[in-house]
Amino acid sequence: MTNLKNKNLISITDYSKEDYLSVLDLAEKFEKNPNQPVLSDKVVGSLFFEPSTRTRLSFETAANRLGARVIGFSNPTATSLQKGESLHDTIMMVSSYVDIIVMRHPKDGASRYAAEVSPVPVINAGDGANQHPTQCMLDLYSIRKTQGTLENLQIAMVGDLKYGRTVHSLVQAMSNFKAEFHFVSPESLSMPENVKMYAKNAGLKYHEYRKLEDVIPFADIIYMTRIQKERFPDILEYEKVKDSYILDAVLLKGCKDNMKILHPLPRVNEIAMNVDKTNYAYYFQQAKNGMFVRQALITSILGYADKIK
Ligand code: CP
Repeated sequence: MTNLKNKNLISITDYSKEDYLSVLDLAEKFEKNPNQPVLSDKVVGSLFFEPSTRTRLSFETAANRLGARVIGFSNPTATSLQKGESLHDTIMMVSSYVDIIVMRHPKDGASRYAAEVSPVPVINAGDGANQHPTQCMLDLYSIRKTQGTLENLQIAMVGDLKYGRTVHSLVQAMSNFKAEFHFVSPESLSMPENVKMYAKNAGLKYHEYRKLEDVIPFADIIYMTRIQKERFPDILEYEKVKDSYILDAVLLKGCKDNMKILHPLPRVNEIAMNVDKTNYAYYFQQAKNGMFVRQALITSILGYADKIK
């Protein structure tokens, strides 16, 4: 039996396969019974130094459904950061008020640093182009729910694989489950070498493509991503690749019956609206699953998993 009490979640590799499965099993209980107020004496710190809709609101809803209270900010310009306060001092202060910190930050490594400073556990809600481990957990949940297994799947990842922190985390996690990866991107946004090396070292095959059409016939999961304008150092480079892939309903002819399309969202135009009504679209349900998974993570890390029915 895995024990996640007081265990930070900064990179998806901080947790083992057994840890993932215990979180997914607990999330299933929350999906059946979401309102379980076992954390009425707890306070969650929600520190978002970068914009978010789903991650912040699903974490805060998760905390509310668990009976915890939430403090924090979604607009760092309204904090003492504006007066020059360091991340170190911000974390020192907030950790003296709360029982657990959820943090998103634009800089790679900021969450790891926060965890080193903080006496209370830290959950990384996305750090720069590095990691988004809670998104990864809900992606695993969504894959298992739609495919009935996490083993031996053909996973296509499409779009911004260079700056896309969600796909980096997902390759690392799925490497525990014998997946075969199909990376579709413009050359300038290819999957980073260190992530490919991770799959290779796990003994898994990966293939690289420039055309989305090439992976549609055999993929079990097509994981679309947004080309992230905000991560490009040069806007001209963004303009060259911004509309590289647009998945529409016509393109889906010939895909496998079990295939599901995931996307961490927000989308811009990489999935046409006519896909939303097809049986293959799963991205809105995927985002909903995030609430159950985040309930499972908060209760596990605070040591209350055994109280959940
Ligand atoms: N998937 C995701 O991280 O969405 P938000 O940026 O809206 O939180």
